[in-house]
Amino acid sequence: MRYSKIAGVGHYVPERVVTNDDLSKLMDTNNEWIIERTGIRERRFIDSKKDTVANMAAKATHMALERANLKVEDIDFIVLATITPDYFFPGSGVLLQRELGLESIGALDIRNACSGFIYALSTADQFIKTGMYKNILVIGAEIQSTALDLTTRGRGTAVIFGDGAGAVVLQPSEKPGILSSHLHSDGRYAEELYVKDPGSSRPHEERQPEQILDTSTFKVHMNGNMVFKHAVVRFHEVIMEALDANNLTKDDIDLLIPHQANLRISNYIQQKLGLPEEKLYNNIMRYGNTTAGSIPIAMSEAWGEGKIKDDDLICMAAFGSGFTWASSLIKW
Ligand code: COA
Repeated sequence: MRYSKIAGVGHYVPERVVTNDDLSKLMDTNNEWIIERTGIRERRFIDSKKDTVANMAAKATHMALERANLKVEDIDFIVLATITPDYFFPGSGVLLQRELGLESIGALDIRNACSGFIYALSTADQFIKTGMYKNILVIGAEIQSTALDLTTRGRGTAVIFGDGAGAVVLQPSEKPGILSSHLHSDGRYAEELYVKDPGSSRPHEERQPEQILDTSTFKVHMNGNMVFKHAVVRFHEVIMEALDANNLTKDDIDLLIPHQANLRISNYIQQKLGLPEEKLYNNIMRYGNTTAGSIPIAMSEAWGEGKIKDDDLICMAAFGSGFTWASSLIKW
C-alpha cells in the first residue's frame, strides 16, 4: 500500500506586528478584553506594498523545500487553501506557480476557510496514493487584515484574525504518513461566519459595485457565540472520529495541533480530552487566527522547536466557516 508523508514544513508571517494596544487606537477595545476572551496578544498584518497571498505562500514554500532537501523543480502539483485570494479569479494557486517559476504544473485552489489546510492535505493525499504525483506542495495562506472592519463596529471580529502562510511538501511513502483524514460540513450555518461580497447572490440590478451602498458586506461577518458553541463540540467529535478510525486513543497522541481559532477553544478541547498541556501546540498568542494558514504555521514552528519527532503521532483538527470541520492523524 502506498501512503503519503510530510517531507518538509515551512511558514512565513509578515514583518508588521500589530499589538492589542495598536488595535485599541483604532476601535473601542483593550488588551485585557482581547487576552481574556481570545488569548491573542499580537498578530501580523501585511504590508500591502510587499505581501500577497502568493508571495507569502512562496516564502513558506522555500522554507519547506529547504527542510525537505528538495528543489522547486521537484514540485509536480500545487494545492493551495485560501479564502482570501489575490484576485476574485483566478485562484492564487496559479499565482504561486508563477511566483515559483514553475512552468505548467497543475494548481488547485481550496476554499474551506479554517478547515482549508486539512481539506487540501487530504486532497493531496489522494493524488499521492493513486500515484498521480510525487511531490505535492500543500499550502494554507491568508490575508485577513484587508477584509476586517477595523472600527468599533467590527471589533468582535477584527481583534481575532491575522495574516500568514504555511506550507508542506507531501511525498509517497511505504509506511504512513497520513493515517486518515475526516472532512465534514454543515451549510445551514454558512451565514454565521462569512463575507457576502463580491458574491453572485445579489439580484442582477444590485450587482454593480456603485449600487452597493453598504460596503460592510465586503467585511467579515461573524456570530462569535454561535461559532464558539459549535466549534467546541465539533473539534472534540472529529478528533475522536480520527482516533476511533485508527483504533487509537487520546493517550497515543504526541502532539495536538488545533486550528488556532481562540485559545479558550483549544484549552477547552485539551481539557475535554484530558491531554497534558505539553501535548497541545498553540501560537495564537503571536499570530491570531490565520484561517487556512494557522495549522501549517503552527506545525512548522512546532517542528522548528523540536516538538515533532520521527514516529510521533500528530493530530490536526479544525473548525470554521461553512460550517466545516476536519481532522487528520499523521505518523511523522
Ligand atoms: N473589545 C471589547 N469589547 C468587545 C469586543 C472587543 N474587541 N468585542 C465585543 N465586545 C463586547 C461586546 O460588545 C459585548 O458587550 P455587551 O455585553 O455590552 O453587549 C461583550 O464584549 C461580550 O461580547 P460577546 O460577543 O458575547 O463576547 P464573547 O465572550 O462571545 O467573545 C469572541 C467574543 C468573538 C471572542 C468569541 O465569541 C469567540 O471567540 N468565538 C469564536 C470565534 C472563532 O473562533 N472564530 C473563528 C472560527 S474559525
